[in-house]
This record gives sequence, C-alpha cells and structure tokens, in this order.
Amino acid sequence: MGSGSNLLSKTAQFSLLDAIGNTPLVRIQHLTSSKSVEILAKLEGFNPGGSVKIRPAFNMIQAGLESGQLVPGKTIIDATSGNTGIAYALIGATLGYRVLLAMPGNASPERKRILKSYGAELLLTDALEGPDGAIRAIRDLHRRSPEKFFYPDQYNNDANWKAHYQTTALEILEQTGGELTHFVAGLGTTGTFVGTSRRLKECCPAVNTVCFLPDSPLHGIEGLKHIPTSMVPGIYDPRLASEQLEVSTEEAQEMCRRLAREEGLFVGVSSGAALAAARKLASRLRTGRIVTIFPDGGDRYLSDGFWNGSGS
Ligand SMILES: Cc1ncc(COP(=O)(O)O)c(C=O)c1O
Repeated sequence: MGSGSNLLSKTAQFSLLDAIGNTPLVRIQHLTSSKSVEILAKLEGFNPGGSVKIRPAFNMIQAGLESGQLVPGKTIIDATSGNTGIAYALIGATLGYRVLLAMPGNASPERKRILKSYGAELLLTDALEGPDGAIRAIRDLHRRSPEKFFYPDQYNNDANWKAHYQTTALEILEQTGGELTHFVAGLGTTGTFVGTSRRLKECCPAVNTVCFLPDSPLHGIEGLKHIPTSMVPGIYDPRLASEQLEVSTEEAQEMCRRLAREEGLFVGVSSGAALAAARKLASRLRTGRIVTIFPDGGDRYLSDGFWNGSGS
C-alpha cells in the first residue's frame, strides 16, 4: 500500500454528516432598530441539507441506531413541513435507508422536488389540516405496521431538543464568549427553542429566552406552528420562555425581502420572522445583544410571490 492510503486511514472519515453545525453567526448591520442593541443571526442554511433541521434529524437517527429501534431494512417515516424531511432524506441516502414523509399538500413545490431528488417518497395530506393532518397520517401508518418503520416523531423525541442543547447552544456560547442578553427563536416542533434555551439558561442564567409564533392559525411562515390552535409538541416546555412574541406573515415577508436587499442575506420566511421578532424586542431595550436563528435559505421559497414586493 502506498503512503496515500496510510494517510487516509489515519485521517477523518470525510463524511458529509461531519459538516453539520458550526454555522456562521453574523451581525445584522443595517436592519437594526437601535444602535445600542446588537442583533446576531446564526445562519443555519449553511448546514448540509440547507437548514437547521439536519441537527435534530441526525441526532434522532443516531439515537434510533443506538437503541436498536432503527435496523437495516426499516423505512424512516415522519411528518414534516419540509426541512426535517430534507434532512432525513439526505441522511437516508447517505446511510442507505428508505425515507417516507407526510406533509401538507401546500408545502412549497421546491421542497417537494428536493425531497424527490434525494429519493424520498411523499404522502401529501390535506392542506387545510396543516401539519397536524400529516402527523395523524404517519401515526396511522406506524400503528398499522410498526415492524416496517422507524418513526422518530420529532414532536415528542428528546433527541430533537438535545441536538440543540449539545450543539447549537454551545456554538452560540463559544461564538459570543457567553456575551448575550437575549435569545430569540420561533416555535415549530419547538426543538430549537427548548434545547438552545435550556443550555443557555444553565450556563448564563441572566439570558432572556424569548419565543415567537405566527399571529394567526392560517399563516404563511413555513416551519412555524400557531401553538394555541395546534397539537402542542410533547417536548415543549413553556417555562423556558421569558416572553412570547407574535409575528404576522406580512412582517416576516417584508423582513425577508429587506434582508436580501439590505444585508445580502437570502433567507427563508421564518428567518424574516425571527428578525421581525428580534427588532420588536430591540425597540424596547436600551442596550443588549440578541442572538437569533435563521433556520434556512431563501431558495426554497422562490416561487412565493412576495419576493417582488407585492406582499403576497
Ligand atoms: C424553516 C423553519 N423554520 C423554523 C422551524 C422551527 O424549528 P423547530 O422545529 O426546532 O421549532 C422549522 C422547523 O421545521 C423550519 O423548517
């Protein structure tokens, strides 16, 4: 064997999955509402699969492998509005597992196409039933043939929030040197908010952890849940929220457009919502440093009309 193969055997595995996390944290330069309150955003679109959801998806699959619940031949199934599905599909392709995903029929066409490109199968549910309709469909499937499927159940799986407890929060602490006053995140499965807040509060008890939600049940902020009218995720812990803010779809879209044009940040609608929430908070503070999460990039939402400034 030549020296090249010796070198390879001694170095890293070069797995795509090793590239998860360690995403950039950037300062919002122009779209801040106050000069003395800094807003920093963690750009999760830099992850493999293009979103924050690769962190929990990988952690849930690893937990399944370790517990023996996921064995070769089983199909990975879950209900997902898109990003977790893309993450499962990518991991399934990498590790050699089939993936079947239920989602509301109105999920963006880009996401459906991306999922199919990774080889995942889709079960489209009634758009009017929202994410809860997809959850019911997957529970049904799993109940009928549990031996065929591995169902991580991201809404009730502790490995979801623990991914953020073990990675996202630690990265924020390292990137800021623990110098932050507020953490702001939106609620979908609630994993990002719960896991990151739990660790931040343990390490820096003075940090205020603020969550935000869409302001109405029928909203256009993909990935987020209107908790008061939805099934509350089992992993949610409302005691972690020092405050809860509301953001409208129009505010989120407006921020999204402005982030691209004024900051060079082409991000998804829930990132626009995160900035809208952070700005609401900033407008009430004299000084501070707010850290928020931008869950994905803007390319997945290109077919949405709002980019042109029409607001719809
Ligand atoms: C675009 C987007 N934003 C926000 C979230 C919410 O994150 P979490 O499920 O950790 O609450 C998700 C979750 O799927 C998402 O896809």
